Amino acid sequence: MKILVLGATGALGRPLVKALRAQGVDVRAACRHPEAGADLAALGADVMAADLTDRASLQRACAGVDRLTMAAHGMLGRGRWRSDAVDDAGVRTLIEVACDAGVQRLVYCSALGAAADHPVDFFRTKYAIEQALAASRLPQVVVLRPSAFMEHHVHGFNGLSLLSKGKVDLIGPGSKTRNFVAASDVAQIALHALLDDPAPFARLDIGGPDHASNAEVAALYSRLAGVPLKLNHLPRGAARIIAVLARPFNPGLARIMGLFALPDDAFSERFVGAAELEARFGLRLTRLDEFVRAQVQAWRAA
Ligand SMILES: NC(=O)c1ccc[n+]([C@@H]2O[C@H](COP(=O)([O-])OP(=O)(O)OC[C@H]3O[C@@H](n4cnc5c(N)ncnc54)[C@H](OP(=O)(O)O)[C@@H]3O)[C@@H](O)[C@H]2O)c1
Repeated sequence: MKILVLGATGALGRPLVKALRAQGVDVRAACRHPEAGADLAALGADVMAADLTDRASLQRACAGVDRLTMAAHGMLGRGRWRSDAVDDAGVRTLIEVACDAGVQRLVYCSALGAAADHPVDFFRTKYAIEQALAASRLPQVVVLRPSAFMEHHVHGFNGLSLLSKGKVDLIGPGSKTRNFVAASDVAQIALHALLDDPAPFARLDIGGPDHASNAEVAALYSRLAGVPLKLNHLPRGAARIIAVLARPFNPGLARIMGLFALPDDAFSERFVGAAELEARFGLRLTRLDEFVRAQVQAWRAA
């Protein structure tokens, strides 16, 4: 069986390719910059270039593939790679190409809370693609709906800045309660979604065991790294103005500014069910403090 992971070098894609290779699965690993996948090629993955905005590259990526995971996105993209071109039109093209190529199962990474009336366009797009998949000719569709990945939202957009620059820039007060999940844990569930027969679920909300606000995450880094806590807050009103000004030329930046400028109760980022996920998949989901401790140790070692 040949499996395609599209978005193979991402927070989700990379651990998924590694887990598949660890089980001896024949994996094609695709993204726009295959040179970033040298470690995956070294594990025996067939690393190749593919771009959701390039139909011919998707046809090459899907040729001979039995199952695939869509783990790419363009939430922060602009120009050719703006979100509507990648996450909407691009994924619709992928669905058509996968059907024509005879792909039997498509595992789609949506997002927790995706809905037709979500206040953020990206989550509306995720929901629209869930609907398009349900109406497609694909024999099997599996939808993962994870909460915010720790690798990006806890570390990349938050704690890393405190460690490397001594300060964290937050949009708004950073007071909203959010659920975070390790993408490496999501990869373990994606592994079941890809390999189990029959598919273990049709659609699954996925989250971690802990909730925190962005300000609390920064404080956790400060405590565990022993560095002073310095938070800069961009007022929500200023973020809203930047969002309007940036939208024509940088829709990704506009989206992030607009998203974090929303009131805390505009949409929920809570998740209930981590214990059930652990029991169902025989996993121990990464705790927030464990994740942060590991990032601090890795940063010190580097
Ligand atoms: N991050 C989160 O908090 C979060 C939460 C819920 C759901 N999700 C969903 O989970 C999936 C994986 O997200 P992630 O955070 O792991 O992504 P990520 O770390 O940002 O990585 C994105 C991956 O997709 C590739 N990619 C980007 N644009 C592409 C394009 N136009 N064509 C083909 N490949 C492209 C990237 O490599 P190149 O740059 O080389 O192309 C990379 O391999 C996405 O569908 C995302 O929407 C993410």
